[in-house]
Amino acid sequence: MTKMKIALLGSIVATMATGAAAAELNLICSADVVICERLVADFEGSHDIDVNMVRLSSGEAYAKIRAEGRNPQTDLWWGGTGDPHLQAAADGLTAEYKSPMLDELQPWAVSQAETSGYRTVGVYSGALGWGYNIEIFEKKGITPPACWADLLDPGLKGEIQIADPNSSGTAYTTLATLVQLMGEDEAFDYLKKLNDNVSQYTKSGSAPVKAAARGETGLGIVFMHDAVAQAEEGFPIAVVAPCEGTGYEIGSMSMIEGAQNPDEAKVFYDWVLGADVQSIMPEAGSYQIPSNKNAKAPEAAPDLSTIKLIDYDFAEYGGAERRSALLARWDADVGGAATE
Ligand code: G6P
Repeated sequence: MTKMKIALLGSIVATMATGAAAAELNLICSADVVICERLVADFEGSHDIDVNMVRLSSGEAYAKIRAEGRNPQTDLWWGGTGDPHLQAAADGLTAEYKSPMLDELQPWAVSQAETSGYRTVGVYSGALGWGYNIEIFEKKGITPPACWADLLDPGLKGEIQIADPNSSGTAYTTLATLVQLMGEDEAFDYLKKLNDNVSQYTKSGSAPVKAAARGETGLGIVFMHDAVAQAEEGFPIAVVAPCEGTGYEIGSMSMIEGAQNPDEAKVFYDWVLGADVQSIMPEAGSYQIPSNKNAKAPEAAPDLSTIKLIDYDFAEYGGAERRSALLARWDADVGGAATE
């Protein structure tokens, strides 16, 4: 018998002795790490599937899935803003799947699925805005900004943080929102001016308001629910919906084309769209609007019906060409090193 045959026989005997290898699922999670860990714990507690989870910001997750290409190591990507999920769908990196749970979802979540040819689906939504540290503003005597235009006030020099749109879906949503509100050239002029007031471009989207909560900066441009989360934890954070109007995300989920564990991915996919699972999100400090119509929306969640929302064009701004071109222009015109 050759050495290779002996080794093979050895591994078969070992498998027979220990039983079949445990089912597993390789998950990228692009929302806050606390909800990512809670979902994994609850899923593992109720299923015989081991989850290997990595937390990556939306743009980083897209880059990883793209780099894995035809040899995917990832099975499922949950959470993060919808634009890079749509770009992945257009690139053929994610798989078509019509979950039996689609009937239970809000129209905006189903529309995200339709836009992508059922290669992604909406899991939550939330509007963009900012959170500021009330104590810092009072101490420095700065008037809290109510509008995008107010963020250019020279009195806010060094007081603003926002993420880098290459890594962060939150920051890309901001970029695409400003382009839709103002027009592209005007939006880049605005961002160049805003740069004078920005002290740091972070890697993760919610980091700026966490820094504001700790008093390290005055204000963070983030999803409003991430600012709510800091206020709910007791930090002196006030939440603002910009007066000119604002964009929003459809946080999404996608199964990876050619995944090694497609059956396990479908089990998690259907499970995480359930009303019970989505209703636990506030317990993990996540105050987005859930996509399941029967899930309980968190009481502290910003009420989207009272916020002036733009008619965000997800197909256009999640399109590969538009997203890549806007990010390239941001690098050229605004730059800024990701620091967190
Ligand atoms: C936070 C928000 C999510 C959002 C995510 C995007 O976790 O709570 O609603 O989808 O940020 O993260 P990113 O780091 O890509 O901006």
